[in-house]
Amino acid sequence: MSELGHDILVATPKDSDAIILLWEACGLTRPWNDASADFRLAVAGAKSDILILKQGGQIAAAVMVGFDGHRGWAYYLAVDPDNRLAGLGRKMMKAAEQWLEQHSAPKIQLMVREDNEQAIGFYKALGYEVQPVVTIGRRLDQGLGAG
Ligand SMILES: CC(C)(COP(=O)(O)OP(=O)(O)OC[C@H]1O[C@@H](n2cnc3c(N)ncnc32)[C@H](O)[C@@H]1OP(=O)(O)O)[C@@H](O)C(=O)NCCC(=O)NCCS
Repeated sequence: MSELGHDILVATPKDSDAIILLWEACGLTRPWNDASADFRLAVAGAKSDILILKQGGQIAAAVMVGFDGHRGWAYYLAVDPDNRLAGLGRKMMKAAEQWLEQHSAPKIQLMVREDNEQAIGFYKALGYEVQPVVTIGRRLDQGLGAG
């Protein structure tokens, strides 16, 4: 996919184990989230992908992208700890923006845990702004419950 940069590839199902290991090494997995399902659904989705960058045959960085029909989203941005501060995070976000532009998404958004000061500093360095929005959600995979 030259449009995304000559060294950016779209992940396929065979990349699952390596990408989940990368997510774990980057502290992005949580016990209450099923990382395998997250990977599988993003790779299978018609409007989502996981972009990867390999160095020396290994996946050094990855980012999940998706377009919900209104906004474009980036998730699970991960740069291998041994490859940080070398421009890979910036390159992956550029690829995410290009992927979303190709899918006609007018805007890119992402959610960052509020204690992840490293990531917030990184995004600000890229020109992203913290927006005055509260994220509200609930799980749909544990029954709908009251309300
Ligand atoms: C956040 C992360 C993706 C950054 O990747 P990276 O490859 O180290 O970042 P880059 O080298 O591309 O840095 C790009 C710019 O951001 C700056 N930057 C990086 N980390 C920063 C920080 N903590 N604070 C301020 N600026 C930072 C760099 O100095 C660089 O600026 P420059 O281009 O003007 O010199 C990486 O640290 C990571 O994988 N963290 C763990 C996972 C994570 O938290 N992901 C985000 C989930 S929302």
